[in-house]
Amino acid sequence: MVSKRLQNVPTSGTVKISNIVSQLKSEGADILSFSMGEPDFATPENIIDACVDSLRDQFTHYTPSLGIPELREAIAAKTRKENNIKCTSKNVLVTPTKHAIFMIALAYLDPGDEVLLADPSWVTYDACIRLAGAKPVYVPTSYEDEFTMTPEMMAEKVTDKTRMVFLNSPCNPTGTVMSRNDLKGIADLCMDHDLRVLSDEIYERIIYEGEHISIGSLDGMFDRTLTVSGLSKTYAMTGWRLGWLVAPESDIKEVNKLQTHSITCCASFTQPAAVEALTGPQGEIDRMVGEFRKRRDLMCDLIEDIPGLCCTKPKGAFYVFPRYDLDMSSEDFAAYLLKEAHVAVTPGSAFGPSGEGYLRLSYAASEEQIIEGMQRIKDAMSRL
Ligand SMILES: Cc1ncc(COP(=O)(O)O)c(C=O)c1O
Repeated sequence: MVSKRLQNVPTSGTVKISNIVSQLKSEGADILSFSMGEPDFATPENIIDACVDSLRDQFTHYTPSLGIPELREAIAAKTRKENNIKCTSKNVLVTPTKHAIFMIALAYLDPGDEVLLADPSWVTYDACIRLAGAKPVYVPTSYEDEFTMTPEMMAEKVTDKTRMVFLNSPCNPTGTVMSRNDLKGIADLCMDHDLRVLSDEIYERIIYEGEHISIGSLDGMFDRTLTVSGLSKTYAMTGWRLGWLVAPESDIKEVNKLQTHSITCCASFTQPAAVEALTGPQGEIDRMVGEFRKRRDLMCDLIEDIPGLCCTKPKGAFYVFPRYDLDMSSEDFAAYLLKEAHVAVTPGSAFGPSGEGYLRLSYAASEEQIIEGMQRIKDAMSRL
């Protein structure tokens, strides 16, 4: 029997679909997948070269668990410049982004504590909160308001057990980008109720409209904000498992205790490559975001052309979250599309109760795949 803690947690809905898709593809099925949470671009060559150089130089042993000093410095410089967060390398812990979130939940939540988060939200927040014994408290958002979570909506859910707020802008799965005004209101709410914030900014560079604001840069917020981000999405480096936490030094010390007792440190030879990613040429990012924008527009146009499907135009990340007009659960609908259309999508219910009635489609796919995939969905829906 597994622990009660784990019994409470399902396997990640998104990883489950990816595993089924890999299995079907390996059996030769012609599956078009819109379920992946990673850019389909190559990691830029300059970053690969830096990694190969460090392997050749035998940079292959443990590093300090906080990360190599050059990388902590590069992350701090980037965070000061791009995120307007006043920090130094002492405020940085190098760690895979997902692991940062997991450690933060373990470090700051006790059984019975409550955490506010948008509904729908990325699948892993719910799991990490539950693994820490705490309770996710969803703030339902709506299609009509482009899935915006306002401070007023959050204030209604605050109780004397609320300890933390989890934010994610741009948002996976809805692509919503939080406005400065809403973030200011949320900052006030957090200061009034003494709440800590986890701000997941992993899609910070993949933004088409609006500006990226880090809540940790707002007046009075640095001391209560844990900002996480990483290289996975910006530099097409998901397999490298490299990200970071920026937080007050005392929090870095606490979370690092968990790092020393779990992964020890990130892989040594990836860290000089991460310095190259952050300090080397940045042109590839603009090219990638330009491509994503074209694909977003294409996918949204094609979705609007399918009877029974509609979507809001996401402002960031690389997902569309269409609503469907069918009397079918999103799990059943996704299973139908996989079986009948050989198209893999993620059921909206994987992202929280308000995700029911929606699908998540990643447009980290070629234009040809998007055109073919939307046609297959259209045909399969016309047969229902
Ligand atoms: C919102 C969000 N945060 C964090 C992560 C985790 O990133 P990484 O795979 O780099 O740990 C993901 C990955 O899909 C994500 O979508």
